[in-house]
Parts: sequence; C-alpha cells; structure tokens
Amino acid sequence: MGYTIDAFRPTGVEITANIDDAMRLNLFLRTAFNVLVLIDAFQCADPDELYRRVNAQPWEEMISPDEYLSVVSSVNTPTINDRRFASLKVKDAIVDRVASVHGTRPDSGPLRENFVVQLYWNGTDALIFINTSGRKLADRNYRKMPHKAPMQETLAAGVMTATGYDGTVPLINPMCGSGTLAIEAALIASGRAPGLLRDNFGFMHRKGFDSDAWQSMRRDARKIRNRGIIAPIIASDIDANAVHAARKNAETAGVHHMIRFEVCDFAETPMTPERGIVVINPEYGERMGVIAELEETYGRMGDFFKQRCAGWTGYIFTGNLELSKRVGLRTSRRIEFFNAKIDCRLLKYELYEGTRRKDG
Ligand SMILES: C[S@@+](CC[C@H](N)C(=O)[O-])C[C@H]1O[C@@H](n2cnc3c(N)ncnc32)[C@H](O)[C@@H]1O
Repeated sequence: MGYTIDAFRPTGVEITANIDDAMRLNLFLRTAFNVLVLIDAFQCADPDELYRRVNAQPWEEMISPDEYLSVVSSVNTPTINDRRFASLKVKDAIVDRVASVHGTRPDSGPLRENFVVQLYWNGTDALIFINTSGRKLADRNYRKMPHKAPMQETLAAGVMTATGYDGTVPLINPMCGSGTLAIEAALIASGRAPGLLRDNFGFMHRKGFDSDAWQSMRRDARKIRNRGIIAPIIASDIDANAVHAARKNAETAGVHHMIRFEVCDFAETPMTPERGIVVINPEYGERMGVIAELEETYGRMGDFFKQRCAGWTGYIFTGNLELSKRVGLRTSRRIEFFNAKIDCRLLKYELYEGTRRKDG
C-alpha cells in the first residue's frame, strides 16, 4: 500500500500514519488481524503503576461517555497472574478518567464491537493501543456457515498470497470445507477490498470519527475492480453440507458467480484444460480426523497429484508434518505459517509430467 515500514516485529509491522491511514488499512489489508494505534509505551512494574499511566492519557478526547469500551490484554509479568485483572485496571483507568471530565462513564464489557483498547505487558514493558479494527479483521462477515475446522479468513488470504495467486491461472480447491480459500482467492482475483464486506470497525466508535471521509473511501474502493479475465475457480468437498455452506458463504461475499462448486471425492475434482494451481487444506488430526484414515488420505493426495495434476503446481496446507510425509512427493518449498498456536506448513509441489514418488 506504499507505506514505509519503521519496524518489523514477529507478528506485525510498525508504520507512522494518521487515522485516515488506519481506516484505509482496515479496508484493504487482507492478511492482517488488527490495525492498532499506539497510545503509550512505558515501563510498568505493577498494576497500580499501570492504572496511573493509563489514567494520565486524555481518554475524554477519544471516547464519549455514551460509548461501550472493551479491553483486551496480553500479559506476561510477575506482578499479576490473571490478565483479566490487568484488563480491569486499564478499564477502570479509562472510565474514571472520562467520568472525571464528563461526570458519566462509558459502559464496558467483553464485546469487541465498539471502542477496543489493547494492552501488551511483557516483563516491565507495557504498550497501550486503540484497536481500530475492533473485532479481528479475519471476521469478514461472509462466513455465516462455518462448517467443520474452517480456516481463518486472513490465514486463507495469506496462503493464497503465498502461492502467488492473482486470478490469471485456474485454481482448483479440493476439500474446500466452508470455502474460505476459494472465496479469498475470488476476492483477490477481483481486486475487491475485504473491508467492504463489513460495516463495523473499532475506529467508528472513536470520538471525532469522520463518517464522510470513510464513506468516500468506501465509494472509491468499490470502483476498484480487476477488469481482466479471471481464470476458473473450482471448489469441491465430499460432504454435501460443506459445499452447501461454501456456496452460501460465497453468495454472502458476492463472489458465487466466480466459483464452480462440486460435491465429490477430492481425487474426482474436475480439472480445467489450462493448468494452474491446486490448493488443498486437508484435516490434520488436531481437531478432527483419525490418524490412520488420514495417513491413507495423504497417500491418495500424492497419487492424485501424480496422476491427475501433471503440469500443475500443487499446494498442501497442513499442521501435521508426519502426515505430510505420506504424500510421498518432493516439496519444492515449505512455507511456515501459524494457525493459532499450531505450527503449520504450506507445502509446494512442482508437478512435472512424469513426477515420481520419492520412494519409487
Ligand atoms: C480442514 S477441512 C477444510 C477447511 C476449509 N479450508 C475451510 O476453510 O473451511 C477439510 C475438509 O476436507 C473434506 N474431506 C475429507 N475427506 C475428503 C475426501 N476424501 N474428499 C473430499 N473432501 C474430503 C472434509 O469434508 C472437510 O470439509
């Protein structure tokens, strides 16, 4: 998006920007979870100090007493052992400050639908942010039917981005589940801003929110369309309920006309004459699936790649590296991802004519 990165962190990047930039980021970012605005960074030894530092900020300029506040904390410090206590301290510091100016205090609670403040407290390093996204950006608002083990929308967008997908070559997505990969691919291919699907963000609940600027940004974003020809996207699953959910979700996202859905075993998924990429997210035994059955499935995925996907590029997204060995084909790249705490890989396979199994 043309911003200069001031600092890279393990799970984020830092830029210098204003509130309009924050709105733009919320509208266009596909793979980010949150857009946070730093309010204060300080050394903090204990909860009383936390209260004092947070209370010293001019919250009355940021949140109206009629708003609803929620505080989310991530805490790793010896002086407290329950992050809810840290959240409570931050909440008290903010509402007391607003009450001292206005006489009334904002409501507060766990719903991340309005004004959201985020605390990171590690050792003695404390950071206070306003979360301008409110709910995490993975919640795009199109997945009304999650089905089983759905992928987070931002993770699916990250996986599709890592494949280099841009809509110019066909995409086959067997085992599509609730359709997240195919839907994110369609959003990428059509150049659609993912934030257009949502009508609520944290920044809307900040005092001074410029609704006109936001509406004009949305209008401009709606005009951005990929006018090129988008290659076919085919998504399939063996479970008819999954395909039903995926179709409904694609309708909600406004991309159903771009995706052909089929109910079938992954190995029977129709392919296009023009070659492109095949992306599979099989079960990997963390939340569902029995290992012995999955071993067979992973072996069959290798056969499918070898027998039906010559000339294509194959990808498997899995959190089980032991199972992935059953595919039996050489990977050309292994890209690391985290799905919550699960260490996952996007495995890439160049499927040349005559690709051989490693063991044969
Ligand atoms: C981990 S889920 C995919 C989740 C998907 N990425 C999403 O975001 O919803 C795996 C899917 O594989 C499907 N599946 C399992 N065995 C299959 C097979 N032999 N052929 C086709 N689909 C299969 C399941 O029905 C399930 O929907």
